[in-house]
Amino acid sequence: MTRFAWHPKFGIYQKYCVVIVDGTIAIPESFSFDQAATLPLAYLTAALGLYTSMQLPLPLDAAGKVTPSITGETLLVWGGSSSVGALAVQLGVISGFRVISTASPRNFEYVKSLGAEKVLDYRDADIVDQIKALAPGLRYAYDAISENGSIEATFSALDHPAAEVVLVLPFSGAVPGSTRTHYNLAGGIYGPGHEAALSSLIPLWDALMRQGKVIPNPVKVMPNGLNSIDEGFDLMRQGKVSGVKLVYHPQETRI
Ligand SMILES: NC(=O)c1ccc[n+]([C@@H]2O[C@H](COP(=O)([O-])OP(=O)(O)OC[C@H]3O[C@@H](n4cnc5c(N)ncnc54)[C@H](OP(=O)(O)O)[C@@H]3O)[C@@H](O)[C@H]2O)c1
Repeated sequence: MTRFAWHPKFGIYQKYCVVIVDGTIAIPESFSFDQAATLPLAYLTAALGLYTSMQLPLPLDAAGKVTPSITGETLLVWGGSSSVGALAVQLGVISGFRVISTASPRNFEYVKSLGAEKVLDYRDADIVDQIKALAPGLRYAYDAISENGSIEATFSALDHPAAEVVLVLPFSGAVPGSTRTHYNLAGGIYGPGHEAALSSLIPLWDALMRQGKVIPNPVKVMPNGLNSIDEGFDLMRQGKVSGVKLVYHPQETRI
């Protein structure tokens, strides 16, 4: 048998691909395919960090109803306007956290619409002090950016003897003694040894979608399918992808 992901039929950049059935859910009628396409990577990255790495309780009751499971805690989501950050904000709120986040001012209202109580400008020189004033004794953080100083700023904002932060990129720098860091590759969930994560996070995703709890990322559909991939990467390199997910229709590629 071909190992998962070693054969092109499992790959992306194509209209149809083969997936393992335990890793899929039905798309509710209320979602377009473009909207649904924004969710798997962002959802799994956010959910793995919160529920598998941090081992927070799933926000699901015994009957499968989405129900908050955390009380009296604040979650900092650094980069709430990114695709992963938008899902971390939403999952944090759904779990019962009071969520505070960072973004550019043009995306403040967007991140608030996802449920964040307060959104701060990450470019402010006193950003750490602003977070500390809003969330003294902060224990939990999700750094959805994990570069350009966000990790160090997040460490500085935490103030708890058992602080925990999820990172989305590998980090080899110094970690404060009181802080535990977590890092996962979302795609790893489909590999051997991750059956437990898959069997809890996929039913949660299904429940969230069916019960109308998840807002997909705003979508920007790129023209001419795969012909626009380079343009999309250029936009990302230039920091021009802000609060949206680029979506490509491979079947529209001009050969
Ligand atoms: N570990 C995994 O499995 C995994 C999976 C998926 C993604 N990732 C990683 O997660 C990161 C985010 O990916 P994504 O697809 O969610 O990104 P994205 O949506 O393309 O990110 C764009 C957003 O990032 C925000 N941003 C950029 N620099 C920031 C900073 N210093 N502080 C706060 N916000 C900042 C921008 O906010 P404003 O426009 O508001 O300024 C923009 O809205 C990437 O590094 C990606 O490689 C990891």
